[in-house]
Amino acid sequence: MNFAGPQSTALTTATLANADLTVVGGGGHVGIPLVLAFADAGYRVNVHDTNREVLDTLRSGRLPFVEFGGEKLLGEALAQNRLLFTSSPAEISRNGPVIITIGTPIDEFLNPIRKVVQDCIDGLLPHLADGQLLVMRSTVFPGTTEWLHSYLARKGRKLKVAFCPERVVQGHGIRELRETPQIISGTTPEAEQEATQLFSAVAPELVVVEPREAEFAKLFNNAYRYIEFATANQFYLIAKSAGLDYRRISEAMKRNYPRASGIPSPGLAAGPCLFKDTMQLAAFAQNQFSLGHAAMLVNEGLVLHIVDDLCRRFALAELTVGLLGMAFKADIDDTRSSLSYKFKKALQSHAAAVLTTDPFVTTDPELLALDEVIARSDLLVLCAPHSAYRELDFGGKPVVDVWGMIENANIVY
Ligand SMILES: NC(=O)c1ccc[n+]([C@@H]2O[C@H](COP(=O)([O-])OP(=O)(O)OC[C@H]3O[C@@H](n4cnc5c(N)ncnc54)[C@H](O)[C@@H]3O)[C@@H](O)[C@H]2O)c1
Repeated sequence: MNFAGPQSTALTTATLANADLTVVGGGGHVGIPLVLAFADAGYRVNVHDTNREVLDTLRSGRLPFVEFGGEKLLGEALAQNRLLFTSSPAEISRNGPVIITIGTPIDEFLNPIRKVVQDCIDGLLPHLADGQLLVMRSTVFPGTTEWLHSYLARKGRKLKVAFCPERVVQGHGIRELRETPQIISGTTPEAEQEATQLFSAVAPELVVVEPREAEFAKLFNNAYRYIEFATANQFYLIAKSAGLDYRRISEAMKRNYPRASGIPSPGLAAGPCLFKDTMQLAAFAQNQFSLGHAAMLVNEGLVLHIVDDLCRRFALAELTVGLLGMAFKADIDDTRSSLSYKFKKALQSHAAAVLTTDPFVTTDPELLALDEVIARSDLLVLCAPHSAYRELDFGGKPVVDVWGMIENANIVY
C-alpha cells in the first residue's frame, strides 16, 4: 500500500519496513533540511545516500556542513528514532514516497547530464514498488519529468511521478522550507494529489502546476537571480570605469525608493546552482538565451576584470595578496564553484604570494588563520562577505571590497 503521510507519530524506531518516506541524496545540501523538516513533522525518514561518511556524521548527531537550525532538529529526530540511514539501493523503502535530491550537474559543454538521473533511477528501480510515489526534487532540464514517466512506462513500471523543485537558499533551508511556497506537479492526477498531500505536511503554501511549468519555474527563478546579480555587477563596473564610487550611486538609487530596493549589491555570483541552472536554460534554448549568457560573461568576468585592474594599479609581483572568504557566499562553508578560487588562481599568476582564509571552510588545507593573512598580506580582497569581516581592523592596508560592506578601511576597489 502506498500513502503520503506518517503512519503513526508514536515513538517507534524507523526501519526499512515502517519508514514513511525515503530521501535519496538525503545527506546532501538539499536532502538534509528536507529530511529534518519531515522528521519534525512526525515522519520516519529513510535517509538514503551513497556517501557513507556523511551518513556516519549525521548518525553521530552532527551536520556535515553549515545548515542553520539543523543540529537541533537532527538531535530531536535522532532522539525520537525517526531516522534510518541507508546507502545501498536495495535499502530503499518500498512503502511511502521516494524523493530524489541528487546533484544534477552540467558537462564541459555546459549541457545537462541526463544520465545522472537515469543512472540513479536505474539503480533504484528494482527495489521500488509499483504504485509508489517518486518525486524529483533536484533541478532538472525541462522535459525530464515527462521523460521519466515514459521511461518507467516503457519498462512496464507503474510508479507515480512528481516534480516538486527545491528553492531554498543554501544554509537557510530549515527556515525557508517553513516559509517558502512549494511548487507541486505530477504526471498524473494521482501523482499530483499524492505529492500535494506529502508536501502539505511541511510547506506553508502549495502552488500546483504542470511538470513542464514547474521545471521552468525553478530554472527561471535561478536564472533571474543570476541576471540580477549580473546587472548589479555591470552597473558596478560601468560606475568604476567612470571613476565613480558605486556605493554612493547605489545609496542614491535605493534610499526610500521601493522600485530599486531589490537591486542586489555587486559581488561574486557563484555557487553550485545559479550558473549551472542558467546554462541548463540556455541549453534548452539552443544557446539563444542571450540574457543568460550575458549574465555569465559579466559574473564570471568580474573576477578577471578586478585582477586585471589590480595588475595596473599595484606592483603585484612584489606583493602578497590575502583573500578573505573562500566559501561561495556569506556565512556558510560550501566552496563548490566558489569564485574565490578563480580569484586565487588568477592572482597566483601575478602576485608574489596569495594567502587564503575562511572561518567556515574546513576542507581546504591551504587556509591560514585570519590574523596571519591580514598581518602577512600587502593587499586584501574580500571574496565572501562573511558577517565577521564587517568589523575587521585591516590596519590601513588596501582592501578590495566589491560588495560595499566594509566601512572605515582603505578601500581601493
Ligand atoms: N544547494 C542548494 O542550495 C540547492 C537549492 C535548490 C536546488 N538545488 C538542487 O538540488 C539538487 C541537489 O543539490 P545539492 O546541493 O543538495 O547537492 P549535494 O551534492 O549537496 O547532495 C547530493 C547528495 O546526493 C548523493 N547522491 C548522489 N547520487 C546518489 C545516488 N544515486 N543514490 C543516493 N545518493 C546519491 C550525494 O552523495 C550527495 O550527498 C541539485 O539539482 C541542485 O541544483 C540545490
